[in-house]
Amino acid sequence: MCGIVGVVSTRQVPDLLVEGLQRLEYRGYDSAGIAVLDANQVLKRRRTIGKVKELADSLRSDSLSGVTGIAHTRWATHGVPSEGNAHPHVYGETVALAHNGIVENHEALREELVGLGSEFTSDTDTEVIVHLIGRELANTDSLLDAVRRAVKRLEGAFAIGVISSRHPGRLIGARKGSPLVVGLGHGENFIASDVLALRSLTDRFILLEEGDLVELTPSDVSVWNLDDESVVRSSVKVEMRVDDTGKGNFQHYMHKEIHQQPQAVAATLEGRVTRHRVLEEAFGVRASSVFDRTRAITIVACGSSYYSASIARYWIEDLVGIPCNVEIASEFRYRRGVVLPGSLFVTITQSGETADTLAALRLVKEQGFEASLTICNVPTSTTVRESDLALMIQAGPEIGVASTKAFTAQLVDLMLLTILLGRRHRMSEDTERELVGALRGLPDVLEEALKLDVVTRKLAQRLVDKHHALFLGRGAHYPVALEGALKLKEISYIHAEALPAGELKHGPLALVDAEMPVIAVAPNNDLLEKLKSNLQEVRARGGELIVFADETLGFRTEPGVTVVEVPSVHEALAPIVFTVALQLLAYHTAALKGTDLDQPRNLAKSVTVE
Ligand code: M6R
Repeated sequence: MCGIVGVVSTRQVPDLLVEGLQRLEYRGYDSAGIAVLDANQVLKRRRTIGKVKELADSLRSDSLSGVTGIAHTRWATHGVPSEGNAHPHVYGETVALAHNGIVENHEALREELVGLGSEFTSDTDTEVIVHLIGRELANTDSLLDAVRRAVKRLEGAFAIGVISSRHPGRLIGARKGSPLVVGLGHGENFIASDVLALRSLTDRFILLEEGDLVELTPSDVSVWNLDDESVVRSSVKVEMRVDDTGKGNFQHYMHKEIHQQPQAVAATLEGRVTRHRVLEEAFGVRASSVFDRTRAITIVACGSSYYSASIARYWIEDLVGIPCNVEIASEFRYRRGVVLPGSLFVTITQSGETADTLAALRLVKEQGFEASLTICNVPTSTTVRESDLALMIQAGPEIGVASTKAFTAQLVDLMLLTILLGRRHRMSEDTERELVGALRGLPDVLEEALKLDVVTRKLAQRLVDKHHALFLGRGAHYPVALEGALKLKEISYIHAEALPAGELKHGPLALVDAEMPVIAVAPNNDLLEKLKSNLQEVRARGGELIVFADETLGFRTEPGVTVVEVPSVHEALAPIVFTVALQLLAYHTAALKGTDLDQPRNLAKSVTVE
């Protein structure tokens, strides 16, 4: 996590750096800092605790000036959020550095550097890097060389930006394991953790690869590898719509993004389906032969992306009829599993930069999978670049830390994948026709579901003072319950757990009393009668039920049971519609509590550290 941005220009850069940081704040927001070289090439630094706004306020009352600079927004890993631990870190008055990643051998390096006389002022792993660079400058006149020599000693992950008072008009970047892009300007050049940070400055980028070092001046950019060889990296043009990154008429990004789901689903389907069929050609020339060979699937992901994968498991095993193994990336990467013949390895990641997911992808390269496929929202991300196939979702930038529109768009991609594989196995043309029809109608059903804004806002009053909540679902709606619980806990800080409803009686029923709201998801499917029995078990113990029920079921509100009617849709797509209802409930509960729901405490949008 953490976001870094750097600018080398002929105009003043502090405002540009702060604007870039504001766009990177989703990566971490517990402290921020900036370092610039002023007109006399003196290194000036400012750091503040809290969000980027604190830094901006500080610079407004006491400004810095300079045409070369770096900046950082932090998500603490080593050392508490404090001014002293905030980046940039410095080596004397010579070098300043901003870092994203984790230096795993920092303790050994620190000990060695202390032995050489270095004095450290922070608890971070980062500070060793700037000391290594500063010391290397005694052996070389080139800042690029000094950075290369220093990073060669690092174990772990890093993306860094470096400036030096002895090298005015020069900015060095390097990446290994953490993302870094170069933005190409006119008379100025930039580095940043992602393209979004530089949206107002350029639309031309170089996407650095693992082990790349880059040297930037206002007029030139050159890329090198760790062996001091020049490497050619072509530039790409990245279109970004201006309205993508604002809140529009909404108070929070999350609310806006919940309401963007009909468009996100429609855009994800665009060009991929005809009236009755999924267009295989839309998935690229290599996809057909990979799908022909696919006999089993392993899906690996984290957080909400893991829950969308868990829903897809029901689809793939039921509608395709091949084994589908779904695993949490941080577990998968340390487990020796068995790869079934003809297995396709799938990662699901909104950001395409999640460290555990990326590590899993790299790990399986030698494990005998037929191919790797990623389902992702960011075309320029590392996961997309390192996978054999990429199935993009078209959700647009998701800024709120709680994933909403990316989750539903992922499910759309997963249904398209299910159909493409199903066609090769047990799915009939009629079923494909039925599912494609339902997918095409989904944006309208979601528009209907969004009208639940009103009723969920009212219901939120019942949850706002609670300390715990239980979510229940069965079948493919168990992961829906998990996602609903995750949404509630991450933005409202109410402890929420989700269970397959049939498990309740095996222990968790002991938790149920009048103080424990139980939120159930009741679609119109074969498991309905079983679910109803589970709900009776709750009522018999005095538990308060909130039931999100398919509108065709005719469930009625009665004492102890509040029913919220959810628009009906094809049974297979019901998890998508029910999820929207649960997102709204979580959103309104957190909004009522007044939490910082776009940037909840202790979290970050893109988890680029292990
Ligand atoms: O970018 P990714 O999809 O790989 O992110 C995975 C999780 O970190 C993410 O879904 C997280 O759980 C969200 N905060 C959920 O709302």
